[in-house]
Amino acid sequence: MPADFPIARRMHDIQPFRAMRILVRASELQAQGEDVIHMEVGEPDFPTPPPICEAGARFIATGNVRYSGAAGIPRLREAIARFYHDRFGVDVAPERIIVTNGASGALMLALGVTTNPGDEWLIPDPSYPSNRHFVRAFEGTARSMPVDAATAFQPTLAQVEAAWTPNTRGLMVATPSNPTGTLLSADEVSKLNAAVRQRGGIMLVDEIYQGLTYGVADHTALARHDDVFVVNSFSKFFGMTGWRLGWLVAPSCHVGEVEKLAQHFFISPSTPAQHAALAAFEPATLALLEERRSIFRDRRDLLLPALQELGMRIETEPQGAFYIYADVSALADNAEELAARLLEEAFVATTPGADFGHHRANEHLRIAYTTSHQRLEEAVERMRRILHR
Ligand SMILES: Cc1ncc(COP(=O)(O)O)c(C=O)c1O
Repeated sequence: MPADFPIARRMHDIQPFRAMRILVRASELQAQGEDVIHMEVGEPDFPTPPPICEAGARFIATGNVRYSGAAGIPRLREAIARFYHDRFGVDVAPERIIVTNGASGALMLALGVTTNPGDEWLIPDPSYPSNRHFVRAFEGTARSMPVDAATAFQPTLAQVEAAWTPNTRGLMVATPSNPTGTLLSADEVSKLNAAVRQRGGIMLVDEIYQGLTYGVADHTALARHDDVFVVNSFSKFFGMTGWRLGWLVAPSCHVGEVEKLAQHFFISPSTPAQHAALAAFEPATLALLEERRSIFRDRRDLLLPALQELGMRIETEPQGAFYIYADVSALADNAEELAARLLEEAFVATTPGADFGHHRANEHLRIAYTTSHQRLEEAVERMRRILHR
């Protein structure tokens, strides 16, 4: 490529996923015959539930695989609305639900219809890495709010009020959060939204890990607010990462704008995935997903004390998703080096905190319990040998 070949300025600010680099290295080690335990990737290890696969296959067999409307097939939008009603007792008009290619597509649409060049979005640090890159891609500025275990790695009202400037467009939160697995309560969401709305801003609540909570009931911001953007997905609870399907619930006044942008960005979400997802809400599928949730919970309960025993500090119990964000500062000076050592010497893949921001990133590892009980026990044993030799 010639040196003067133009690359947009924004690309200098957009970093790759470190987790992906680790995945590549882990795959190299596997190709050399090593037995790598994967605790770095943010996707369930379970296969897509059979009723979903069967519904997708039946649709593909018709051969009638064409575009749908940009906001998705009406039956799926209605099914999602029914899901909100049945699970949370919340009425959401199907017209406000835009089916997207994963939560990623939903985030792009929400930011695309709200962000002017120079607008600031308040984003907790640590948080899901793509958020700040999406904001940058729309010429906005991601403004980090450092969060710690003391506030369950979630922003406080005082923090949001202090960070707000005339250029602030909105606040992005995720509950449960990636990488910390910690939650905001319904009251906390309400307080934050009140402060944001009072300042003329917008709150975006990423509920992609909804359904994956342990010992606490999950909730949706939609129960109390119709002026927030809510992002969700079939990737995590429903076990459909590779199908690339999610949804956005937009405030009514934004729906037309979101649909317009969706038409141009994506034309339509994948139609096989949409027809498959119709089976996601069937009782048999939901029962299977509940079983999986209890397996995740058991894994968390196994791993949490085991990591603490290894010398990792986890001051706030993660109550959702499938991650533990462990403070490893008592074990190593640099979490990234520790992650490399664990991978190269123990063949245990984890993700260093640096993927998720800057605040005390070098003191943390994200450890995903997306592998079996037996493999988790094996991983802990291997880590013990490296850390305590
Ligand atoms: C908090 C959060 N939001 C959004 C996404 C994007 O998910 P997808 O596009 O697969 O639905 C992820 C993926 O890990 C995530 O953790």
